[in-house]
Amino acid sequence: MSLIVVANRAPFRLTPEGLAPAVGGLATALLPVLEARGGVWVAAGEWGEKPIAPPRESRVRLLRVPLTEREWQGYYGGFANRVLWPLCHYFLERVELRREHFQDYLRVNRRFAEAVSGAWREGDVVFVQDYHLLLLPGLLRERIRAPIGFFFHIPWPSSGVFRILPWGRALVEGVLGADLVGFHTPEYVENFLRTAAYYGFPVEGNRVRVGERSVRVEAHPLGIDTRRFRELAEDPGVGAHARALRRLAGADRLILGVDRLDYTKGVLERLLAYERLLQSYPHWRGRVAFFQIATPSRTSVAAYRELKRRVDEAAGRILGNFLREDWVPLRYFYQTYSQEELAAFYRAADVAFITPLRDGMNLVALEYAYTAGEGVLVLSSLAGAAEYLKEALLVNPYDLDGMAATLDRALRMPLGERQERLEALKGRVEALEVQGWAERFLASLEG
Ligand code: ADP
Ligand code: G6P
Repeated sequence: MSLIVVANRAPFRLTPEGLAPAVGGLATALLPVLEARGGVWVAAGEWGEKPIAPPRESRVRLLRVPLTEREWQGYYGGFANRVLWPLCHYFLERVELRREHFQDYLRVNRRFAEAVSGAWREGDVVFVQDYHLLLLPGLLRERIRAPIGFFFHIPWPSSGVFRILPWGRALVEGVLGADLVGFHTPEYVENFLRTAAYYGFPVEGNRVRVGERSVRVEAHPLGIDTRRFRELAEDPGVGAHARALRRLAGADRLILGVDRLDYTKGVLERLLAYERLLQSYPHWRGRVAFFQIATPSRTSVAAYRELKRRVDEAAGRILGNFLREDWVPLRYFYQTYSQEELAAFYRAADVAFITPLRDGMNLVALEYAYTAGEGVLVLSSLAGAAEYLKEALLVNPYDLDGMAATLDRALRMPLGERQERLEALKGRVEALEVQGWAERFLASLEG
């Protein structure tokens, strides 16, 4: 049976070396399964972005859903990224409710439904991804008799928060068009079940009844491509680059942060916590360096441009206060890297400082734990990954003093403890292996 994957973004990108899978978990998780079974990936893709065809030898067909600029701005820039994204990450003051954005969201979800039902053949399985397409499972159920899976990659908030949405019931009903609904953690499953119950759908165990149908809701944590990251960890070129980064750091210890520049990632709070470390634990001055990598993201949304300004300002202040002729306390890289380059940063860092204010999973934490030589993972307790990475040092990303104290502890951790924790973490990441994710989800859907 072929597979139809539906997501806002296409799974390929153009690099100087040619065509490559898109960065991030989704393409890595789903392309191999799609290649193995054959099938279609249906996507909208960024407004103005050039459509990229899959490599010639690929068994994957790419189907684009054409949108007008207005539709794209309303659906993606508006409802998805000014309403659902901040709401699900508990940034309620950032939610901008506008009826016309919901109308665009509905129209684009319908457009997707038409494209998918046109491509669908009897027996094909449909797998819908993420918060851009909450209404799609329901719209598909009206049109085709397919097994439909839906996966939500960001946190499903508590039902009290979700109820802020005037269209909450319609959105939940849309999701419940699926046969199987997946989340990264049991907490999100629980939140979703409570939300469904609030809107009057009977819930029994992990099942929601919708008329005659029963919808299953399950936790399926996403992992990373462990084989690929093991190769990268052992690659001599990556090793040489990591040593060059250590020389660049020019300090005994190197702390690393890697994120899309998004207000949910806590980059600003993290810089403040690092500043607090330098103020409250002055023996680290001259002995520690912090590299923050921030990937440009969603720059058409004002909140992201504003965040960039504030992060620039904080970085400038830290440098102004602490920079010495023989020591650069902070380097801030606003760019996208290849996986090889990222791996070199992971190999070079003594401490990964990954402190989202809220995050569905956070794959960077997994990538670091799996690639590092002997580092310490300091991780936000509010990231989905904290549910699985028990040997990380967990922090509350809102508590600057607590974060500074934990950083100090991480920087001083004896070698034996570091090795023990990292070994255990690698085992945890191994268990979350990415190919298994899609297979487990689809097996559950088709079983
Ligand atoms: P999110 O999906 O919210 O961006 P994740 O941590 O789950 O957060 O996934 C981010 C993905 O993007 C990871 O696979 C990571 O390797 C990749 N990534 C993050 N920053 C960069 C960067 N500067 N250059 C290239 N890839 C990056
Ligand atoms: C998160 C979302 C994805 C999204 C990614 C990048 O991981 O869960 O659906 O693709 O961020 O964001 P962007 O808006 O650039 O696609």
